[in-house]
Amino acid sequence: MASRAPVLVTRKIPGRGVELLRREVGDVDVNPRDRPFTPEELAAEVAGRRGVLCLLSDRIDGHILAAAADCQIFANYAVGYDNIDVAKATRRGILVANTPGVLTDATADISWALIMSVARRIIEGDTLVRSGRWTGWKPAELLGADLVGQTLGIVGAGRIGAAVAMRSRGWGMNVLYCDEVRNHKLEAELGATRVEFDVLIRQSDFISVHVPLTEETRGMFGAEQFRAMKESAILVNTSRGLVIDEVALVEALRTGEIAGAGLDTYANEPRVAPGLAELDNAVLLPHLGSATIRTRGKMSEVAAEAIITALRGGLPPNAVNPEAREYRGK
Ligand code: GLV
Ligand code: GLV
Repeated sequence: MASRAPVLVTRKIPGRGVELLRREVGDVDVNPRDRPFTPEELAAEVAGRRGVLCLLSDRIDGHILAAAADCQIFANYAVGYDNIDVAKATRRGILVANTPGVLTDATADISWALIMSVARRIIEGDTLVRSGRWTGWKPAELLGADLVGQTLGIVGAGRIGAAVAMRSRGWGMNVLYCDEVRNHKLEAELGATRVEFDVLIRQSDFISVHVPLTEETRGMFGAEQFRAMKESAILVNTSRGLVIDEVALVEALRTGEIAGAGLDTYANEPRVAPGLAELDNAVLLPHLGSATIRTRGKMSEVAAEAIITALRGGLPPNAVNPEAREYRGK
C-alpha cells in the first residue's frame, strides 16, 4: 500500500480543494465514478491513506475507521458530521473536521426559500402554469400565508439558525428560539426570546430547524409535537432528516394537523417517506442547503486546508475532536 496516493477524495467536488491538496501534500486519488463508493469499496480505498476528504453520504463507521489505520484525518465536506463515528475516530487518534461558517448564508437562504415556497405555494403555482390548466386570475386561487408580523420559531440558534432569524427582520417577525445556550446577539439585535421547545412549537407560525443530529435531537419532531403545533404552522427543515419522524409528518400534513412543510433533508436519502411526494402542502428539495457555486467552492478549500494542516502535524481550527491527538500512537 506504500505507493498509494496519501490523500483520498471520495467523490469529485467543485472548487480548488483537490488542486490545493495536490500542491501542498502531493498525490491525490479522486473517486472517478459519478456515484459514492459502496462501503466495501470505501474500506478498500481508505487503506494506506494519510488523509481522506469524505462526504455526508459516506458512512464512516468503525469498520471504515479500522481499515484506515494510517489515516490522520477525515475531513467531511459538510458542516454536519453525524455520518462519522467521531468517538471511534478519536479512540483511533484520527481527527475529524467539518466545514463550519462557509455555508451559513447559503443554508439560511435555502431555509427562507422553503418558508416562502410553502407559505406562498410557489411550486403548486408553477405546476399549474406549466400544466396548461391555468384558466386566468381568480380571487381565491392558491391562497397562502402572510409572513409579516408572524412568529418565527428557530430550533437550534447556532450559526445557521441565527442567520435565518436575522433574515426575518425584513418581515418584522416575532422571533422565538430554543437552544442549550443563550444567543445574546439574537436577543439584543432582534428582540428574540429564548423559550422551551414545547412553548416554541405551540406558539410559532413558522418553525425552522437547525440542530445537529444527535441522540437528543433524533426524532424530536413526532406525532405529539405535530399535535401541539398550530394547524396553520409551517415546518421547515434544512438540518438532518432524522430530526423529524417522517411517517408522523406525512400523517400530520395529510390530516391538516399542520399546514405545510418544506424539507431539504430526509431520514433515508435519497428515499423519501411513503406518501410525502403526493402531498401538495410539502415542498421537497434534494439536500441543496449549501449548493451555491461559491459555497461549495469554499467548502472544498476548508476541507482541503484541514487535511493539509493535519498532515503537517498541526491542529486544524475546524477539527471537531482535537482530543484525538492524545490517542495518537496509543
Ligand atoms: C450539509 O448538509 C452539511 O451538513 O453541510
Ligand atoms: C452550523 O454551522 C451551525 O452552527 O448552525
